[in-house]
Amino acid sequence: MNILSELKRRFRDALTPLAEDPGDLLDLIRPVQDARFGDYQANCAMPLGKRLSRSPRDVAGEIVERLDVFDLCHRPEIAGPGFINLRLKDEWIAAELARRVGEQRLGIAPADRARTYIVDYSSPNVAKAMHVGHIRSTVIGDALARTLRFLGHRVITDNHLGDWGTQFGMIIYGYKHFCDSAAYGREPVAELGRLYKQVHQLVDYYETRGRLPDLEQQIVERQAALDGQRALAAGDDKQLRTKAEKAVRKLESQLQEARDELTAAGRKLEAIDSSPMLAARAAQHPAIAQSVLQETAKLHAGDAENLALWHEFVPHCRRDIQRIYDRLDIRFDYEYGESFYHDQLADVVQQFRQRGLAVDSDGAVCVFLDGFATPMIVQKRDGAYLYATTDLATIAYRIKTWNPDAILYVVDHRQSEHFEKLFAAARRWGCEHVELQHISFGTVMGEDGKPYKTRSGDTVGLEGLLDEAVAKAYGVVSANDDAKPGGAELSEEDRRHIAHVVGHAAIKYADLSQNRTSDYVFSFDKMVALEGNTATYMQYSYARTQSIFAKGKVDLDTLRGSATALAVEHSAERALALKLLQFAEALQDATIDYRPSQLTSYLFELAKCFSDFYHQCPVLTADSPAQRTSRLLLCDLTGRTIRQGLDLLGIHVVDKM
Ligand code: ARG
Repeated sequence: MNILSELKRRFRDALTPLAEDPGDLLDLIRPVQDARFGDYQANCAMPLGKRLSRSPRDVAGEIVERLDVFDLCHRPEIAGPGFINLRLKDEWIAAELARRVGEQRLGIAPADRARTYIVDYSSPNVAKAMHVGHIRSTVIGDALARTLRFLGHRVITDNHLGDWGTQFGMIIYGYKHFCDSAAYGREPVAELGRLYKQVHQLVDYYETRGRLPDLEQQIVERQAALDGQRALAAGDDKQLRTKAEKAVRKLESQLQEARDELTAAGRKLEAIDSSPMLAARAAQHPAIAQSVLQETAKLHAGDAENLALWHEFVPHCRRDIQRIYDRLDIRFDYEYGESFYHDQLADVVQQFRQRGLAVDSDGAVCVFLDGFATPMIVQKRDGAYLYATTDLATIAYRIKTWNPDAILYVVDHRQSEHFEKLFAAARRWGCEHVELQHISFGTVMGEDGKPYKTRSGDTVGLEGLLDEAVAKAYGVVSANDDAKPGGAELSEEDRRHIAHVVGHAAIKYADLSQNRTSDYVFSFDKMVALEGNTATYMQYSYARTQSIFAKGKVDLDTLRGSATALAVEHSAERALALKLLQFAEALQDATIDYRPSQLTSYLFELAKCFSDFYHQCPVLTADSPAQRTSRLLLCDLTGRTIRQGLDLLGIHVVDKM
């Protein structure tokens, strides 16, 4: 049972005579953090009082009179201006929790109305190695898919791999011109990665060179404007002066921006110019950008040579990515990459045209959408289709194939505009009935407050990151083991296994525990710490429950057979028991706005309640056999809830640490 939903149901009945549609009033019923005020609080009497022009305390009194909650709560108390405080009865908590002991799903009922969700996540561009930027989409998407599935929804996961874009034009071009065949023979993925990087660098070189005159011009113009405003700011007219001072500040910062950009551009060019090999390559391939586009276009047009190369490269690239998914225990139902939709794109454009949703503009086919400054281009002047065209085809395919209620796109915030336009276009195309959601997330930052990069400024590879997390975890696990009062307990093999589980978990949890829309700072030391809101702490709490059973030689089947012994007497027992009952609420919170951090927060609170309980309530040495059984049952439910919660986040547990 979800207590909050149950209370809302009871309040709805009580409020109906007073308010026509009590929906928004019900949102004002919430769990209370401070147990002195009860367990739940309803703040609906204040707005309702205002609406009815009556004293809120009176209204609160009337609500309480009508409220039928006596089976689960003590008599509600009215406090302050009209808060209604609810305290659950200890016997009710104990009885309700006792029922969970024998329940596989820990009292989580499947959703009343099961929906079909498609979760589009991870979706890397396969021509390059996965890097730190891919963590978020991969773990957030996986956690959402697992959670929705557990709640009884039909979930289809689809990895929308970028396997058809310009990156392939780049590696095809690189392969044709710069390939080291011996290296390719030995380690194809590494060599393809090198080729991609090099071609990218050369394309960037010319692009940057092309931008220089504009940048320089911009600096001159901004400088001139700044001089003008400075003169005004030194003038006599006070009004003009204040205005000019403001303009000066703005222009100064704009000028600095342009100068920084110029410096960055200079550095990029310098990197090539100062390397004889790269400088020679740049000189020999002045039209590399156009050539890359041509290679891409040839691939898309079915050119035999490029298609054969593509077929050769893709499996290599995918194998590399798969290795990471295996380590992270990530599985997809489908991996229809962009290439899968290639032959459906012409039809999409045709449909948009025929229905008057797209028009030719400047040679390109464009969809003009209300509220956007620029149109969504679905076909370029040279005939090429775009990322957006593929996404439209993908929506059509998904609707036709799976008839979803919702499609979730777990993609970073820089693509917000793409998705806003995509969804607007899709709605006009006839997809209003499907919930299209961009599950946006922020950037992974380094401790210097800038996007997380290696010292040399490269993006950080995901594989190395996982290795390092495991190494750190090994250090923490070993230190903890060495410090045990009776001496170390773990074998070397145990330590390695635990470090593997803990290290991968740390990376996932550090990400999931952040509010997904904000940026977060990546810190190995924090994420593997044994204290705080970390996977390690949660895994440690779980292991602690298991070690109690091991130490007390507890037979779990027998224990679970005595569920009726469960009682809550001590305040720490009560707090833990109530927290356990709130698992359903946490899952609901995590899915309302698709935020796994709601679940990690819950688990952290649960682990803290367990820690308080553990320190205040002896379990194996309890006062009586009945109390011992009751406390063991609390340990069992805690362990199972943590394990289940972590499992929904894609995180494993270990029995000892
Ligand atoms: N491959 C894209 C990228 O790396 C992300 C794809 C997200 N999914 C989608 N349907 N557009 O930026």
